[in-house]
Amino acid sequence: MTAIRFLVNGAPVELEAPGMRRLLDVLREDLGLTGTKEGCGEGECGACSVILDGDVVDSCLIPACQVDGRIIRTVEGLAALTPDGRILDDLQAAFLATGGAQCGICTPGMLLAARVYLDAGGGPDEDAIREAIAGNLCRCTGYTKIVEAIALAAETGRRPAGA
Ligand code: FES
Ligand code: FES
Repeated sequence: MTAIRFLVNGAPVELEAPGMRRLLDVLREDLGLTGTKEGCGEGECGACSVILDGDVVDSCLIPACQVDGRIIRTVEGLAALTPDGRILDDLQAAFLATGGAQCGICTPGMLLAARVYLDAGGGPDEDAIREAIAGNLCRCTGYTKIVEAIALAAETGRRPAGA
């Protein structure tokens, strides 16, 4: 067992786990953060995406020992927690508005890949958005509404305050 400490969604976590236990299992089973999904388990689908020190990674491929001292954000960390409850971030709101939240398996990873894209200054260009989510597969409904949602969030984020 290895002692591992890290921040997840702003909260400090300290636990003992086999060093090679997958980050995906630590998040879902040890910490109850089940918004992170398992699809392929082989680094191909992006369902297990989380943000690790600002980059999107496949948590099914990351051994727990590699996140010691690092900062993780999961889909649970997107919405802001206020005294009145949770407030969706602009990206989540855009997914709702366009119907981009098509299923619970791929959507968390799509949101996180898109969050990194927008945080890096990404805009509403369709090709750029499709490239940003290229590691996140939808096996059913298609990407049109997802791309629309990310473009909408990009436009919304660029709107001047009060507009
Ligand atoms: S479950 Fe990790 S990439 Fe598919
Ligand atoms: S796999 Fe989630 S919408 Fe297609």
